[in-house]
Amino acid sequence: MTDRWNALDAHRARTAGRRIADLFDEDADRARDFSVTADGLTLDYSKTAIDAEARRLLLDLAAEVPARRDAMFEGQRINRTEDRAVLHTALRAAAGPVLVDGRDVMPDVLETLDRMRRFAEQVRSGRIRGQGGPYTDVVNIGIGGSDLGPVMAAHALAPWMDGPRLHFISNVDGADAADTLKGLDPETTLVVVASKTFTTIETMTNAETVRRWMGARVRHPADQFAAVSTAMGRTAQFGIDADRVFGFADWVGGRYSVWGPIGLSLMLGIGPARFDEFLAGGRAMDDHFRTAPPDASLPVMLALVGIWHHQVCGYPTRAVLPYANRLIRLPAYLQQLEMESNGKCVTMDGAPVERPAGPVVWGEPGTNGQHAFYQLIHQGAQVVPCEFIAIARGEEPELDHHQRLLIANCLAQSKALMLGRSLDEARALMAGRGLAGDDLERQARHRVFPGNRPSTTLVAGRLTPFTLGQIVALYEHRVFVEGVIMGINSFDQWGVELGKELALQLGPLLEGADLDGQDGSTVALVETIRALRGQ
Ligand code: F6P
Repeated sequence: MTDRWNALDAHRARTAGRRIADLFDEDADRARDFSVTADGLTLDYSKTAIDAEARRLLLDLAAEVPARRDAMFEGQRINRTEDRAVLHTALRAAAGPVLVDGRDVMPDVLETLDRMRRFAEQVRSGRIRGQGGPYTDVVNIGIGGSDLGPVMAAHALAPWMDGPRLHFISNVDGADAADTLKGLDPETTLVVVASKTFTTIETMTNAETVRRWMGARVRHPADQFAAVSTAMGRTAQFGIDADRVFGFADWVGGRYSVWGPIGLSLMLGIGPARFDEFLAGGRAMDDHFRTAPPDASLPVMLALVGIWHHQVCGYPTRAVLPYANRLIRLPAYLQQLEMESNGKCVTMDGAPVERPAGPVVWGEPGTNGQHAFYQLIHQGAQVVPCEFIAIARGEEPELDHHQRLLIANCLAQSKALMLGRSLDEARALMAGRGLAGDDLERQARHRVFPGNRPSTTLVAGRLTPFTLGQIVALYEHRVFVEGVIMGINSFDQWGVELGKELALQLGPLLEGADLDGQDGSTVALVETIRALRGQ
């Protein structure tokens, strides 16, 4: 592997001074040659410095991917630090067999999906109802993967929401529960407690709070609760009837779980038929990932572009910039998916990684981001590779002039990033505005755009449940490919544990426990906070 990385480093060093724009002069078909399309989804990576040789070398890095991909789909225990299979793909598979330890898991998956469908239909039709009548509102209580998937998809699929209104409580901050519950009628509110482990302190604290809120008005609050978990014993202890519990197996990672029972609140909102379309989109991406040659594979090429920018060029972050306001929570969703998966510093064997395994991921929908942080993207001293997402058609035909403006902005940004504006062009601009001499020179320098800043654009026709499924599965597989290349385990998350343990230990300090043995900073902060709380 070291030789392959060295070859890429050498190629990068040889070509570092080259302008991306010039690559289009050398290859008239560059836009087509450096794009991949599958099932109506196109990834254009022509506005990067990747040339044919870089792509060839990057594809060499991905040589192990097909075998590792097959091992994942076949249910092998590829999550070695937790000794588990990784089979979120089974949640969206149409049929089996999908074997884990020789046993087909599909009958259970399909049976649970059917139970979810029946439950959702009965809630949506009013046959299952609250003390005060048909459910008007659903509150999903969960955090991380038990929140971000459903909340992201609920925003994205707003045009398909025709069931009870969806609300999400995730943060242990009581403000989250208080603000969400304000205005809701406990008698017509259904609560879904979503937690893979059913031990997560935030979720269990919020679930208790919401149960108390409901208990003040509803005679049997447990009847208005459903649960989604792998821990059936704990859901029963919480008092939720087994009929309302939807289980899943430990081979579904939290951040990969929106496709199954964790998606229950989404299904309640958009209905089983639309949820099935979402699954079909994910399945289409699975089929593509399993069959397309690496250089024609959306997940592989998206991953290789990411590897080129982060591990080869050394750019520390990447921005995800959806030009679709309904994808407002996609950057947050991808932060968990990508950083919880690949934010690792040891390889599968426990050796230190030779290069950082994954970048900082951040973003915001356009055009809002343009009026906030794009200044840095265009003129900051650091390079931020940008991943634009453009949707050709909006769901509001009467507002198509908005859509055209939105798309024009998206195209303008990637073009401006690539071409920039030279000092001579800036001087000419200032001269045209009547400036001369020192004044012109000074002002012109502030108007230079270095350009040559890389970006990709992912283009879809419409943001439908199917397309959303494709996009989410695309990013899942991208993370997988990057993880394989970096030799890490993308499916554990030990890095979240220490903070959880310390939070449990530090809790008593806010109830007056002795500060002996704490570090100096923690002591000082606790004293300040105690004083501010009047303790
Ligand atoms: O933050 C760590 C984590 O374990 C995530 O991986 C997971 O999505 C989240 O907490 C919630 O966990 P659970 O679904 O078990 O409540």
